[in-house]
Amino acid sequence: MHTEAETPAVAPDPSAAPGVSLSDSLEAEAHRRRSFAIISHPDAGKTTLTEKLLLYGGAIHLAGAVKAKGAARHARSDWMELERQRGISVSTSVMQFDYHGRRMNLLDTPGHNDFSEDTYRTLTAADTAVMLIDSVKGVEPQTIKLFEVCRMRGIPVVTFINKMDRDGREPIELLDEVETVLGIPCTPVNWPIGQGRDFQGVFDRWSNTVHWFEREERGLKKAQSFSAPIDDPRWAELLGESAYARLREDLELLDAAGQAFDREMFLGGKVTPVFFGSAVTNFGVGPFLERFVELAPSPRPRPTADEGAVPPERPDFTGFVFKIQANMDPKHRDRIAFIRVCSGKFTRGMEVKHVRTGKKLALNRPLQFMAQDRALVEEAYPGDILGLWDPGVLRLGDALAEGEPVEFQGMPRFSPEHFVRVRPKDLGRRKQLEKGLAQLSEEGAVQLFYDRFRMEHFPLLGAVGVLQFEVLQHRLQTEYG
Ligand code: G4P
Repeated sequence: MHTEAETPAVAPDPSAAPGVSLSDSLEAEAHRRRSFAIISHPDAGKTTLTEKLLLYGGAIHLAGAVKAKGAARHARSDWMELERQRGISVSTSVMQFDYHGRRMNLLDTPGHNDFSEDTYRTLTAADTAVMLIDSVKGVEPQTIKLFEVCRMRGIPVVTFINKMDRDGREPIELLDEVETVLGIPCTPVNWPIGQGRDFQGVFDRWSNTVHWFEREERGLKKAQSFSAPIDDPRWAELLGESAYARLREDLELLDAAGQAFDREMFLGGKVTPVFFGSAVTNFGVGPFLERFVELAPSPRPRPTADEGAVPPERPDFTGFVFKIQANMDPKHRDRIAFIRVCSGKFTRGMEVKHVRTGKKLALNRPLQFMAQDRALVEEAYPGDILGLWDPGVLRLGDALAEGEPVEFQGMPRFSPEHFVRVRPKDLGRRKQLEKGLAQLSEEGAVQLFYDRFRMEHFPLLGAVGVLQFEVLQHRLQTEYG
């Protein structure tokens, strides 16, 4: 039996990871990328889990850094200050950290009040999704919507059932809900030992190991983990007879009921590996992350419009725009285009072709994201995300290519759930309105629908989240008068 600290400390030495080459060759760099997003319903614990993952990666050193609002949060870097002034959030769009020699890119999927089409679009840039479920509430509406997008795009989904420290639903019942509501079979990778106040840890079914978490006196819960095979007689002593008996019973049931994990099925989005834990107490986050870096695929070939695909090892740089964020500050009219690197190596200052217009673009000012040095991004590899200042030439789905032009499979549009009708108060300003709406819809800010049975020409606007209307209104006012 051995103990190991569950509390995240310093990022592990990449060279310690087996089979990972530190060579900076394109293939090795692409191979070590893991680009993923967390999908969940508000309040399931996404912020908390994100923070714990960043702590493990050594990207932040203080719990509360992600969550803190206001001045404290913005004190982290000059870039953040810039963002604060400009009212945009770049650094939280992608969070990069290293773990066991892998370069993790955690893409932020806006939720809560800023839920919008961007939330869905972000998933087109991710190679894996972590589906976070609250053990008390089970599968919730926003989870279902986001999961459907993953299914549609063939994105593999790893499930993390959170808040096991609360008296939630029975684990079996939760798996059953995922299977029936989302229609995806579950393979539990680990299994909780107890629940609520009795939550003691998780059992890793793949290595026959128990990660046991000790609670300290005075209610403080210091995470610690022990590993030993399940048939080690000392476990009954440690967990207590009844918890141990229950665990063995559950495991027998799972072994009898479940099928073995099939990696190909997982990569095809046909089965989801499931983990249990408690992000807030940091129970089970370490064992999850360790398995997650093994499970999550590195960047895969990106499908093109002509039904081919661009492999990440292709030597020349290609990428596509998956999100455009306009500056809400009228003094700064520029926008930021977010690019997912699909192949080749990006180096700052390189000249690429904007495939749709055939024009050349010099990529001089790629933006900095959180958890790196303060300098501009000097280089990036497949799976990485670049933020580019855009004077208004880039559109969603646009491809950038260093060599032979490529056209990637189109950016999907997502069913709107909110609608409003617009018309100008002053018909004299109709042209501006039409121009503004046309441009903003091209940019993906809103969707336009024309009703051919109505006499008037003003469209119905559709959006995935109501915030999109607020942004649109603001921009129509400030940019189009
Ligand atoms: P979100 O980003 O998905 O919306 O969720 P967030 O992390 O903000 O978490 C929502 C609430 O759930 C927070 O409580 C958070 O502390 C709590 N939470 C997250 N993970 C766990 C967990 O594993 N167990 C338990 N019991 N609670 C968890 P809050 O009261 O809204 O905020 P706070 O005052 O704790 O910050």
